[in-house]
Amino acid sequence: IKVLSVASEVAPLIKTGGLADVAGALPAAMAGLDVQMRTVLPGYPSVLAQVTGGTVVAQFADLFGGTAQVRAVDHGGLDLLVLDAPHLYDRAGGPYVTDEGRDHPDNDVRFAALSFVAAHLAKTGADGWMPDLVHGHDWQAGLVPEYLHAMGADTPFVFTIHNIAFHGNTAADRLEALRLDPARFHADAFEFWGQISALKAGLASATKINTVSQTYAEELMTPHFGMGMDGILQARKADLVGIVNGIDTQVWNPATDVHVANYKTPKGKAKAKVALRTEFGLPKSDGPLCVLVSRLTDQKGIDLVLQALPTLTGQGGQLALLGSGDTSLQVALLERAAHDDNVAVKIGYDEALSHRMMAGGDAILVPSRFEPCGLTQLYGLRYGTVPVVALTGGLADTVINANPAAMASRVATGVQFSPITADAFANALTRTCDLFKDKTAWARLQANGMAQPVGWETSAKAYAALYHSALKG
Ligand code: ADP
Ligand code: GLC
Repeated sequence: IKVLSVASEVAPLIKTGGLADVAGALPAAMAGLDVQMRTVLPGYPSVLAQVTGGTVVAQFADLFGGTAQVRAVDHGGLDLLVLDAPHLYDRAGGPYVTDEGRDHPDNDVRFAALSFVAAHLAKTGADGWMPDLVHGHDWQAGLVPEYLHAMGADTPFVFTIHNIAFHGNTAADRLEALRLDPARFHADAFEFWGQISALKAGLASATKINTVSQTYAEELMTPHFGMGMDGILQARKADLVGIVNGIDTQVWNPATDVHVANYKTPKGKAKAKVALRTEFGLPKSDGPLCVLVSRLTDQKGIDLVLQALPTLTGQGGQLALLGSGDTSLQVALLERAAHDDNVAVKIGYDEALSHRMMAGGDAILVPSRFEPCGLTQLYGLRYGTVPVVALTGGLADTVINANPAAMASRVATGVQFSPITADAFANALTRTCDLFKDKTAWARLQANGMAQPVGWETSAKAYAALYHSALKG
C-alpha cells in the first residue's frame, strides 16, 4: 500500500511533542508490512536548513496567497515531501507559536494549505507516485477530506487523533480564505458551534479514525474527555479504534544509548544515577530519585506535582524535572527548587538530557489529567525506571499497577493512581517510596518493565489492518 502521511511535525526534523515521534517512526515501522509511506510536512526554516537538494514534484503559483513548491527529499531514510511556502512558514518562532508564545495569527491558513497540498498530491501524484490512501495527524491535517472531495478524489483518509484538546477552530468568515465549500458549513461536516473546525472536519469525513490508545478511544466518547467532540465520535464509533504508540527501541535502548553509561540490567543504572544527581546538584539520599520530562501545561498535571512534592521529599525522595511551557508553572517550579535541596528543575528542551534522566532515575512521574498515549512512561519501562502514572488514556494501557495481586503474579510494572488528584498522587508517591525500600519488590518491578514490549511491532500491524479496512471503504 502506498500511504501519504500528513504531519505538522516529524522527528528528528521538527518536534514539539510525541506527535513528531510517531510521525517520524511510522514509516520505518510500516515498511516491513508492505506499506510504503511518504510524509508531507511544512518547510519551516529549521526543516529547510536540514534538508538539501531533492526534486520538485509540485508547484503552486498561488497557494493561499503566495508561491509554493513541494520538494521530495530523503532524510535519514525518511521519504519526505517538504512543502516550501515562504509566505506561510518562513518566520521566527515554533511550528505553532511565535517567539512570545502566541499562536501564529494565520495558523488556519498555514495548515489548511498543508492539507490542500496533501489532497493535491493524492489527486495528481508526486512524480508519478500515487498514494492509495492519505493518513493525517491531528487538526493540522483535518481538512484533507474536504479538499479531496472538492477535487473529486476518492482517496480514503485515515485520521489519527493525538490530542483532542487542539481543535484548529477559526471564524466562520474564513470560509473563502480557506477555500472551503460554504455548502459544507453544517454540523455534519466542519461546522462546530458557529466556527470552522479543522478537527471536526477530519472526524466527520475520515474513512477511518484512530487515536493512540484504546482507553483514550473510549474516553474520547465521554463529555469529560471529548472536549466537545464526544458527540461526533460517538456517531463515528464504528470507525474508531485505539492503537497504542510504540517507541523507537534503537534510539531508546539503555544497552546502546549514546547519551548514557550503557547497561543491560537495572543494577547497571547506578553509575547513571550518580551522574544525574551531580548534574542536577542533588545531594545523596536513600529515597527514590524521581524524574519528570514534559511540556509544562495543565494537561500534564504539573500543579499536582507541586502539591504532592512534600510527600515525596518528606520520605527521602527527590525530583529532577526537565520541561518548558507555561510561564507560571516554570516560575513555580523554579521557586520550589530554590527552597528545597531535594528538588531540581531545568527549564528548556534537551533531548540528550532526557536520555540521561531516563537512565539515572529510579522512577518517572507522569501525573497527567488526560494522556492520549504518553511516551515517557514507555521510555521508563525500557530503562528500568519505574513509571508512576495517572490512571488515564495510554498510561492506563501501558503500565500495570503494583497492587498485591499483580505483585504476587509478577506482572506489575509501575504505580498508578486514581482519581487524578494531588492527594491520590501523594499516596502513589508514598507507595513508591515503600516499594523502593523493598529491594526485591523494586527489582521485580524494574525487570518486569524492561521485559515489556514497547516497540512498534504490534501497533504497526494494527495500522496495516486499519489501512486495509479503509481501502475497503
Ligand atoms: P506530548 O506529545 O503530549 O507532549 P508525549 O509523552 O507523547 O507527550 O511525548 C513527549 C515527547 O517530548 C517525549 O519524547 C518527551 O521525551 C519529549 N519531551 C517533552 N519535553 C521535553 C523536554 N523539555 N526536553 C526533552 N524532551 C522533551
Ligand atoms: C499527543 C499526546 C500524547 C501522545 C502523543 C503522540 O501529543 O498528548 O499522549 O503520546 O500525542 O501520539
